[in-house]
Amino acid sequence: MDDFVKVRTGIPGFDSLVSGGFRQGQTIVVSGPVGSGKTTFGMQFLYTGAKDFDEPGVFVALSQSPAEIKNDFKAFGWDVQKLIEEGKMIIIDARPFKKEEGFIALDESLYRGEPVPFMHLIQLVLSSIKRIGAKRLVIDSLSVLAMQYTDDFYIKQGLQGMVYALEDQNCTSILLSESEISENMPAEWYVTSGVVLIHHARKGDTMERSIQVIKLRGIKHSEQIFPMKLNEFGLQILHPRISP
Ligand SMILES: Nc1ncnc2c1ncn2[C@@H]1O[C@H](COP(=O)(O)OP(=O)(O)O)[C@@H](O)[C@H]1O
Ligand SMILES: [Mg+2]
Repeated sequence: MDDFVKVRTGIPGFDSLVSGGFRQGQTIVVSGPVGSGKTTFGMQFLYTGAKDFDEPGVFVALSQSPAEIKNDFKAFGWDVQKLIEEGKMIIIDARPFKKEEGFIALDESLYRGEPVPFMHLIQLVLSSIKRIGAKRLVIDSLSVLAMQYTDDFYIKQGLQGMVYALEDQNCTSILLSESEISENMPAEWYVTSGVVLIHHARKGDTMERSIQVIKLRGIKHSEQIFPMKLNEFGLQILHPRISP
């Protein structure tokens, strides 16, 4: 019996890969190429958390506007706006170098026009978490966040500080990242307690998705690569029978 609270992702077929769920307060990186399904993974985790598990969530949007995000997920039948109005979700607009007025109203917004200091972002994230009692957080994405800063050391320090602050809040966090396995292991892979990798590769005349858990501190997890489907219901992990 584990002595910690398990956080179910709500992504069909995923939780059984990680002994039932993440550990509450853990920070997990979900990495994969563009179009692999990272944003969907993040939103499905937040949406299901808020709707089915009574765990409010904060989404930090760095690459898309909150309006775009809400609109994209309507196609899945997910009413993000409703959750925002019910105080179960906050979308923080943290896009750098963009000035767009009009639909900021219920969402958080940072001053834009220059890179956002890391501390400023962390403070905004923490105050949003407190405001709705968030238990889940998604940052979309670390790659876009890191693009704003030229100093590697600054990024690593900021990231480490953020991970500590989030763990302190007992908020289970998913940091999305475009990095793939390479010689230079990205900083976020070793400052966080978990790494999940999404693959999106050519198969014949189409592309196929699959997913694997690379590491997850303190949790027994599958080492296998599982096929993953993305359709109008969102993501689903398949468990095909393995031939002997
Ligand atoms: N209803 C749908 N059915 C099937 N695939 C979809 C649907 N909606 C979006 N997608 C696919 O999801 C992809 C985007 O996924 P996303 O989570 O944004 O990826 P990432 O964040 O990794 O770039 C789109 O490029 C598209 O191929
Ligand atoms: Mg994305």
